[in-house]
Amino acid sequence: MVLLLGGSGYIGSAFVTELHRRRIPFLSISRAEVNYSCFVTLRRLLKEAKVSFLINAAGSTGKPNVDICETNQAEALLGNVVLPKTVSDACEVAGIRWAQISSGCIYSGAFINDNGVVRVEKNLMCPPLKKLVALRPEVVSGYREEDPPNFTFHDLPCSFYSGTKALCEEVLAHDVNAYIWRLRIPFDEFDGERNYLSKLQRYERVYENVNSITHRGDFARACLDLWCGHAPLGTYNVTNPGFVMTHEVVDRIKRILNLSRDFSYWQNDEDFYRYAAKAPRSNCVLDTSKLKAAGVVMRPVMEAIEDSLFNWRSAD
Ligand SMILES: NC(=O)c1ccc[n+]([C@@H]2O[C@H](COP(=O)([O-])OP(=O)(O)OC[C@H]3O[C@@H](n4cnc5c(N)ncnc54)[C@H](OP(=O)(O)O)[C@@H]3O)[C@@H](O)[C@H]2O)c1
Repeated sequence: MVLLLGGSGYIGSAFVTELHRRRIPFLSISRAEVNYSCFVTLRRLLKEAKVSFLINAAGSTGKPNVDICETNQAEALLGNVVLPKTVSDACEVAGIRWAQISSGCIYSGAFINDNGVVRVEKNLMCPPLKKLVALRPEVVSGYREEDPPNFTFHDLPCSFYSGTKALCEEVLAHDVNAYIWRLRIPFDEFDGERNYLSKLQRYERVYENVNSITHRGDFARACLDLWCGHAPLGTYNVTNPGFVMTHEVVDRIKRILNLSRDFSYWQNDEDFYRYAAKAPRSNCVLDTSKLKAAGVVMRPVMEAIEDSLFNWRSAD
């Protein structure tokens, strides 16, 4: 029996769909039914329900966005650090393997290959780099799982949300029974307030940047492929291979959804942070070769975006 925590959430519900599709027996519980953040309660549940694998898709993301975590810090710490540690301890006592949903938002930027010299660049939107990335995307490579996170409480600035996600990975670093599955900026074909493709259409102005992003259904499938295929435990970047610049996604949205309206962009970071955002945002590229080496193939990012738009299900 698989135990799914956070199955009511945006990412957890993709696991519900995929577990159903694979006919894998699972139990999805809500905080309202069982206080799974209590160690004794969770340990008892693992035993009584004969749980053999646990997926923790519960956490505190901040609604409508991560800015809320700047003021709701206790909730962010409880949901993103204390809960995963409790789950880790309970699974260790029960002798079962488990998976934590993490995030690529613990990084900023990417590696840049400048005529054979490779360096970390945390801000890919500074003027000379922005042009270089657009003209020669081959100079960009993503962070691998073993690269130290650089958008954390140890490496400021970071958002409080990202800080808690990085702290979670730090706390779980010695857990040999766990998968850490890193997701980035989820999207799919279902219009909704959590979908990146919907958000871009609803923003008054769009923020240009460079990111690896993840199709929500592809994410759940890839994660379950890792577990079902007995891939080694540890950390995996689970994003659709490649990266996108925001304007490339906007171009596809306009073309495929046949939108005639113009999209306007924030002119610079100063205006974006003055008027639209409070906490620093992570924008980064992740390397997915470890996932591929484990035998799990995800479709390229632009293919997943275009497919989502061709199959777009409007909320109306
Ligand atoms: N959405 C994203 O953009 C994104 C990106 C990267 C990583 N992630 C990670 O993916 C995981 C799931 O995110 P999500 O977007 O699916 O979140 P969500 O829609 O808010 O769902 C999270 C679920 O977690 C449970 N929960 C337990 N403790 C909580 C707390 N303190 N505050 C709020 N919810 C709590 C709730 O389920 P019950 O009340 O039913 O138990 C809730 O439905 C998180 O670890 C998040 O950091 C999300």
